Amino acid sequence: MKDCLWDVPAHFPQMTGDDIHLWRAHLDEAYGNESLITRISADERCRADRLQKPGDRALFVLAHTMLREVLGCYLGLTPSEIMLETGACGKPRLAWQHGSSLQFSLSHSGRLALLGISQRREIGVDVEAAVPHDDLANVAAHFFSPGERTALARVGDTDRSDLFYMLWTRKEACVKAWGKGLQIPLHGFSVLPSTDAWTESPILCPDVDTQTLGYCRSVPVPEGYAAAVAVAGSGSRLSCRHWSAVSLRQR
Ligand SMILES: CC(C)(COP(=O)(O)OP(=O)(O)OC[C@H]1O[C@@H](n2cnc3c(N)ncnc32)[C@H](O)[C@@H]1OP(=O)(O)O)[C@@H](O)C(=O)NCCC(=O)NCCS
Repeated sequence: MKDCLWDVPAHFPQMTGDDIHLWRAHLDEAYGNESLITRISADERCRADRLQKPGDRALFVLAHTMLREVLGCYLGLTPSEIMLETGACGKPRLAWQHGSSLQFSLSHSGRLALLGISQRREIGVDVEAAVPHDDLANVAAHFFSPGERTALARVGDTDRSDLFYMLWTRKEACVKAWGKGLQIPLHGFSVLPSTDAWTESPILCPDVDTQTLGYCRSVPVPEGYAAAVAVAGSGSRLSCRHWSAVSLRQR
């Protein structure tokens, strides 16, 4: 998986039409960094304040700081100049005033935040802390396709949680890419890998209006997490980078 080394880049990367850039941030690097809260919008600060758990609040602030800083670097703007708007089913996007074709998707869970950026192509990313769950079969009965349920039933006890979170993050990434929320039922499509989890699997959006063909694949993240990316179309080039609040602050 040479495309997923998560290096801290020495220079901000250029993006061409077929590039997909993934950025990841870790909460352990952000604790004590009081300046992060000043880099997000007033609306985002209100949303952060509404979160009960300090860890959730800190991760939200980190994720939104990464979002604004990274989008700002692509667009040549400061974080506070980034304007966001929301699509019909809640998918955030760059405000039309930017006149940009950059697309993004954000996810945060546990102590990790993941951001996917593309040029024009719809993109969705999902990261989940793989917390132990007593009743995976019951969740799968509601949200997984028949083929996914069979695969989960067949796998040994020790691998069941890994497979569950692999499928779950792939499904969430697809739904986030399509941007129609839960109008597209999770059990109505399968994200079982065609070869291994790290190779692109073709996925057809089951929505009659869109019928978007794209792919999803898992991406490696630290132990205890699962993550995936889904992108419309084919022939894109994925690369992964670590976003460090400290290194950007010192630039
Ligand atoms: C919103 C949703 C994508 C969140 O997923 P999650 O795994 O709980 O959380 P994640 O951290 O992975 O993703 C959260 C991010 O997804 C993005 N997001 C929110 N709504 C989204 C949507 N409809 N499509 C794509 N991305 C969305 C936001 O950037 C959000 O970050 P923020 O809360 O910090 O602003 C998921 O709960 C969902 O699809 N809900 C359906 C909403 C819906 O169907 N609404 C019906 C209206 S038609």
